[in-house]
Formats: sequence, C-alpha cells, structure tokens
Amino acid sequence: MKVLAIETSCDETGIALLDCSGGLRAPKFKVIKNLVASQILAHRPFGGVVPNMAKRDHLTAFPVMWEEIIRDQSGKDKDAAKALMKKIDFITVTVGPGLEPALWSGIEFAKGLAKEYKKPLIGANHLEGHLYSFLLPGEKMDSRLRGNDRKGVFPAIALIVSGGHTILLRMESFTKWKQLGETRDDAAGEAFDKVARLLELPYPGGPEIEKLAREGNPNAVTLPRPMLKEKNYDFSFSGLKTATLYYVRDTAGLKITNFGLDSQAVLQKNQSRNVNKADIAASFQAAVLDVLVTKTIRAAEQVEARSIILCGGVAANTALRDALSAAAKKAGAKFFVPEFKYNLDNAAMIGTAGYMAYLRKKKYPLKANGNMGI
Ligand code: KG4
Ligand code: ZN
Repeated sequence: MKVLAIETSCDETGIALLDCSGGLRAPKFKVIKNLVASQILAHRPFGGVVPNMAKRDHLTAFPVMWEEIIRDQSGKDKDAAKALMKKIDFITVTVGPGLEPALWSGIEFAKGLAKEYKKPLIGANHLEGHLYSFLLPGEKMDSRLRGNDRKGVFPAIALIVSGGHTILLRMESFTKWKQLGETRDDAAGEAFDKVARLLELPYPGGPEIEKLAREGNPNAVTLPRPMLKEKNYDFSFSGLKTATLYYVRDTAGLKITNFGLDSQAVLQKNQSRNVNKADIAASFQAAVLDVLVTKTIRAAEQVEARSIILCGGVAANTALRDALSAAAKKAGAKFFVPEFKYNLDNAAMIGTAGYMAYLRKKKYPLKANGNMGI
C-alpha cells in the first residue's frame, strides 16, 4: 500500500510517502520520501515551543513541502498532484498526543487532501509512530527486521522517551501491549530541556546537554536517581531537575529568577559562567540514563523479554543508546533502536502507525487529542 503521512504534533512539520506491506505480523516499510521542516530556530528565543506559532509555521510550510513532494514524484505538469494521489491508497495524520493547535493544522490539511482526492483518512497515534520507527529501513538496520523473520522480537520491552513522554511497555506483538509505567511528572526530554535552560544552553536542550556531557565528569556532582529502587515501573524527573537547580544555585551562590514560557526557574543571564557546566551536564545525563536503563532492564528481566526497543526523541542520545544496548546484551536481550533520522518527530514514523491502525481497523477520531495515550 502507498501511504501519504502527515505529522504536526509539535514543532516539526512532516510529510512522507511510504510503501507499506507485510501485514500486522511482519510489517515492512519503504520510505519513498520523508520531508521534515523544523521550526527549532523560530522557537529558540522563547526557550520552548509556542503552540500558536507552531501552528502558523506548519500552515506556512505545507504548500512548499506539498509542492516539493509533487514535483519530486510526479513532475511539474498541471495534473501532477492528481497523478500522484491516484497512486495513494490512504492518507494518515497524527491526531495526538501533542499540542492541539499544531495537531489541528495537520488534521485540517489532511482532511482537505482527503476530500479533494477522495481518499480514506486514517488518524495516527504519535506514540505508536515512535514505537514502530525502529522498523523504518536504514543502513544499520538489524537483518532480522528486514525480512519476514520477526521471531525473537517478542515479548519485548519498549521504552518511549521523548519531550512529552517516558513510557515503559510490555509488547506481546506489534499490536498487543500493556503499559507498565510512565513518568509521574516531567518527561525525560523535558528534564533535559529544563536543565539545559538552567545552564543557558539553547532549545532543544537534549542534544546540547549530550554534547557538553562528553567533556564533563559524570561523577562530579552527586544527584539523585528518583524512583530507582521503587518496585514499580514509573519514573519521576522533576526532583532531579530541582536537585540540579539547587546544586547550581548553592555552588555558585547565585540568585534564581523566574522568566520564560513556563516560569521555569533559571539563572539570571550569564550568571552560570562560574559553574562547571560540562560536569553538571555529564552528572545530570548519567542520573537520567541510570534510571532509564536500570528500570528498563529490570522490566525486561521480569518478563523474560527477547528484545528491548528504544524510541522517541531522547533515543537520539548516543550515551543512552550505548548504555541500553550494552545492558540489553548483558541481559541476553536483543536491542532495537531507530535510525538517527527517525528518532525525532517525522512523518515516516506516522506512516507506520497509520498503516498498522488501518489494518487493525482502529479508528481514532479525526480531531486533535493533546493527551492521547498509547
Ligand atoms: O520525540 P520528539 O522529537 O518530540 C516529542 O514527541 O516530544 O522529542 C523531543 C525531545 C526534546 O525534549 C529533546 O531535547 C530530546 O527529545 N532530545 C534529546 C536528544 N535529542 C533530542 N535528549 C537527549 N539527548 C539527545 N541527543
Ligand atoms: Zn515525538
């Protein structure tokens, strides 16, 4: 099946074309085109994503990206769009979770196309997109995932770590899972972003912290490992963020002020120059990774998982990929992670979720649902 996928849940506008086959048991995907327009630079001065600005920028990006897809696939003549759409079996669009104004812009755009070209429109769950993104092909893709040999994947433990979510799932198959735990407050990516702001690093903070952490000592600052010892599979990162804040304040003797989008406490401009940011970044990252890896492995051992799947924006963190990969190996489980280009929000992953929803006859309402779960 040829699928046109659209993603606008946050600050990336995504349009992708995929070939999907294999059915629910052995889904296979070929990415024909995957366009992503990032709004990071537009939101950076605000230290986070401004929802209505995200919506406006999605609306500006659509015509340009749509034009590019048509030209690339179908040429320049006046019926090029029609010719392209003739080959499409259905359109899929993210309906949640995410920022509702941003989600609506994609939904309306998709509805317009579906109506104009008389195509079915399937709602897709953004989190399922992250979950299936390890199935998108790439050079380093595990050979087991290329063909139909999907034995040895399930039961699996999946860790979804993004800017909005930290979720542990036990998966029996590609379509059957149970949520074991989630964060009780901040998501892991959110904690990265907030600590980055504290250290006066640009948004999004995850990649900045990771870069800085490479030069720092992860044992320099003693930080808590929240909920590490608790026997459940929930997480909490808000206390770790606050502990980092207090460390910075007390060590540097600085005054903390409130400003920015969510009144997040941050240091007054340029005051953090007296603290060793690299050591703080490395120590903070080590604490987050310690909790994520330990709890994921504990879950994998408990359910005797055959594999561990890591996904979501924070899965772009090399230190996390390496640590979880090594721990999985030690625990005797296979380790799957998406190609780097599919970790952050993109429409190719929404194509995978749309295909699975289509086959499962799962009909998510075609309206924005900011708090949708998995
Ligand atoms: O999945 P994603 O693109 O959007 C959501 O669905 O939330 O994830 C974005 C999050 C941001 O919080 C960002 O700081 C974090 O992923 N992130 C990282 C890295 N790259 C992105 N966190 C840690 N290390 C990274 N290299
Ligand atoms: Zn995401």
